[in-house]
Amino acid sequence: MKRIFSGVQPTGNLHLGNYLGAIKNFVALQDDYDCIYCVVDMHAITMWQDPAALRANTREVAAAYLAAGIDPKRCIIFNQSQVGAHAQLAWIFNCVARLGWLNRMTQFKDKAGKNREKASVGLYAYPNLMAADILAYKATHVPVGEDQKQHLELARDIAQKFNNDFGVELFPILEPLILGPAARVMSLRDGSKKMSKSEPSDMSRINMTDEADDIAKKIRKATSDPDLLPGPEALDEGGAVSEEARRARPEAYNLLGIYAALADKPVGDVMTEFAGTQFSRFKAALTDLAVATLGPMGREMKRLTEDPASVDAVLRDGAERARAIAEPVMREVYDTVGFLRP
Ligand code: TRP
Repeated sequence: MKRIFSGVQPTGNLHLGNYLGAIKNFVALQDDYDCIYCVVDMHAITMWQDPAALRANTREVAAAYLAAGIDPKRCIIFNQSQVGAHAQLAWIFNCVARLGWLNRMTQFKDKAGKNREKASVGLYAYPNLMAADILAYKATHVPVGEDQKQHLELARDIAQKFNNDFGVELFPILEPLILGPAARVMSLRDGSKKMSKSEPSDMSRINMTDEADDIAKKIRKATSDPDLLPGPEALDEGGAVSEEARRARPEAYNLLGIYAALADKPVGDVMTEFAGTQFSRFKAALTDLAVATLGPMGREMKRLTEDPASVDAVLRDGAERARAIAEPVMREVYDTVGFLRP
């Protein structure tokens, strides 16, 4: 079976964007692929993390994976720092990737901002570690959001250069599984900005552990516009929301997209259902749907958070199974590079 690898950073405040943008897709993929889902704690520390918070957030992401329905028997759930291959292969990739390649990474430029000189070396080398995550398992399919596409192209370049430099066919060519625009969840306050954990107002996002009244309040107060909801005639020929339509009514299309993703329906169906209705009625329906889907999941996450030993046991079992896959790959890498085997 084809192997999937993906990861979520344990940086706190998991929200609807993380769920619909990543985790919900991970759940669906487990039926068709051999899946490895990682909590990428080594990526998290490319920016400062409080150690106690990092521990709690690592368990929180694992709890979210489990509560969302990822089966820890069929899939591997683990945290990155427990498997040494990630760091080992990342170092080798630091020596394969070129400075020029990393200099083109837009996420580094965004995250480092003006204060580039003060960014950690880890933040700069981040994409090499990501390539190592995937290739240590020879994974071929990587579900990620649009924002990670450039990193995956780099991972492909690294795999190709490694194979070329050493005259081997050790690493496979990987395929991004770019998750659709339904996965693009925007702020409830400003439909032109991504929903984000770092946005100061908690009203801008629905957290995975929010209670029903918080969910209801946030949706009720979500920014809307003065018009009635658009019908399916507003879609383009392919049945998608055009960029132009989205730009004209970002909040309306964000809420419609959230509804469609939570209901597992094409956005056109949702638009047919609510064409010409007022936001108040649509928001009430969205609240019911969000509470019905997120409520039980949030409660399960909280239950797991109160039982850290059970989460740690899942992570430990996952790490052991991950090691069993990565170690033979690392032996091949050692032989290829000319390192003596341990
Ligand atoms: N960089 C990814 C993100 O921030 C997380 C990640 C780390 C990842 N390693 C990965 C995703 C490997 C896919 C595959 O979303």
